[in-house]
Amino acid sequence: MGPYLRGYIPRFARATLASVLYAGAQAYLAYLIKPIMDGIFIAQDRAELIRLPVLIVGLYFVQSVGRYVQTVDLAFVGEDVVRKVRDRLLGHVLGFDYGFFGSRRGGELISRITNDIARIRAAVSQHVSIVFRESLSLIGYISVAVYQSPRLAFYGLVVVPLAAVPLSFFAKRVKKLSHRSQEKDSDITSRLSEIFNNMELIKAHNSEDFELSRFQKDNLEFRRINMKGVRVREIASPFMEFVGSIAVATVIWFGGLQIIDGKLTPGQFASFAAALFLIYTPLKRISKIYNQMLEAVAASERIWDMLDRRPEIRSGDLVLQAPIRQLEFVDAHLNYGEVQALRGVSLELKRGEMTAIVGDSGGGKSSLAALIPRLYDLSSGQLLVEGRDIRELELGSLRRRIGMVTQRVYVFRDTVTTNVAYGLEVDRKAVEDSLRRAGAWEFVSAMPEGIDTVLEEFGSNLSGGQRQRLAIARALYRRPDILILDEATSALDNVSEAAIRKALEDITPECITLVIAHRLSTVELADKIHILKEGKIVAQGTMQELLETSAEYRRLAEGILPE
Ligand SMILES: Nc1ncnc2c1ncn2[C@@H]1O[C@H](COP(=O)(O)OP(=O)(O)O)[C@@H](O)[C@H]1O
Ligand SMILES: [Mg+2]
Repeated sequence: MGPYLRGYIPRFARATLASVLYAGAQAYLAYLIKPIMDGIFIAQDRAELIRLPVLIVGLYFVQSVGRYVQTVDLAFVGEDVVRKVRDRLLGHVLGFDYGFFGSRRGGELISRITNDIARIRAAVSQHVSIVFRESLSLIGYISVAVYQSPRLAFYGLVVVPLAAVPLSFFAKRVKKLSHRSQEKDSDITSRLSEIFNNMELIKAHNSEDFELSRFQKDNLEFRRINMKGVRVREIASPFMEFVGSIAVATVIWFGGLQIIDGKLTPGQFASFAAALFLIYTPLKRISKIYNQMLEAVAASERIWDMLDRRPEIRSGDLVLQAPIRQLEFVDAHLNYGEVQALRGVSLELKRGEMTAIVGDSGGGKSSLAALIPRLYDLSSGQLLVEGRDIRELELGSLRRRIGMVTQRVYVFRDTVTTNVAYGLEVDRKAVEDSLRRAGAWEFVSAMPEGIDTVLEEFGSNLSGGQRQRLAIARALYRRPDILILDEATSALDNVSEAAIRKALEDITPECITLVIAHRLSTVELADKIHILKEGKIVAQGTMQELLETSAEYRRLAEGILPE
């Protein structure tokens, strides 16, 4: 937190001054009870009768202003810090390896960026301010109590620390429960986003009740954990009050004795008693907030854990100026944990050539493609770009040169233009051109507002084939050195596919083209076809060669390449 707070020193200084005024005024009010009692009520001093009420009004004024200034200043610091941490957190999380997101549920990340941040926000903008202010009041009241009667203060105050022992036990429980509540909460968020993303499946399978019952289970568990937390939290304050009542009883007994013995004036006793009573207000406020502070600490630990995490895929610093003309996989292996997706693939891709990868699903085709933009790094072996290890290259400059149509097609809730130019500057002419080349112009221009039409989330108002063509247009728009189509033509009708073929033929001379396809018609164009099976290349050649030499290819050709 340190570096985030440095810029706020003037505000902190002002808030501190304001708190001191607040607490000082409060303590002074408690002190004033002595002259009120002894001076006005007992000695019946008329001068005091004027002076003291005026002073009281003045002190209340100082106290209120102090509290206002302090609260507003610290709230600003809190809000501003939270804003910065949140920005930084998303920025940081976006930098994580692609693989990280697979192993992490989206709900967990969202919960971190919303709920955990909200906890910290409450802590920084409100709790810190209260704890700080009330601690000063506490010190003020204790000073008044000690000043009026050190002996009584000793009896009254010695009981309080005894309460701290069980309190720390409560605190530990609360922290643990908060952690579990947090986990359940992210389960719920994940579940919800899963439900809303899979509505088609749910409706078609009539599984609303099934989803609801799963959800209810999580939800019930969530309540259970939270209620446990409420019970533990709420038992803390009655406990404190009980301890307080013992202190009060002790003080009245000893105080009464001292007044009767003439060792204490009634005013001193009244001022002392007032200070002692008043001590419990800040104490209660602090103890109540203490637990929430612990929750905030737990939340910030989670956030800091996340901020400490570094992506494993680091950028190199070599920026290639000339277009990329050659890629070479050398004995490439890729493991996802236990799963060996690629087991020694060697393959060269050249500018001006179209390379096709075919094979049964699960063979490792998408994994091979994912290595090129470094969504994953090789487990062993090498991927060379222009003869240099891909890890030497500056990551952004590498990725900018790649146009990739992933197997899962992404459509954002935004205009066609933004979807096509995604992340790059919009050139409407080029958007149109890319759409035409991808065979998408026809359906886009038929939309109500053409390329300015806003698409729905996940492209749910588009057909599968339309989504694919849009994704292809996006890849083409980038004018890539390396074009990767991962089963990007699987959902296309023959007419659209013919359009894509044409586009591929046009673009191939100035590109390294890698096509992963099931359809013979696309593969036909390829200069070289590789068959990937169980993470290994089992055959390669032109289509004609493979038809003659590879039984595997003939099997694939019969099964999945009807045309
Ligand atoms: N993110 C991942 N985590 C774990 N295993 C994966 C992941 N992606 C793919 N796999 C596994 O790796 C193997 C190859 O998958 P993939 O490259 O998608 O094959 P293809 O694209 O040829 O269908 C499969 O066994 C698949 O289950
Ligand atoms: Mg695949």
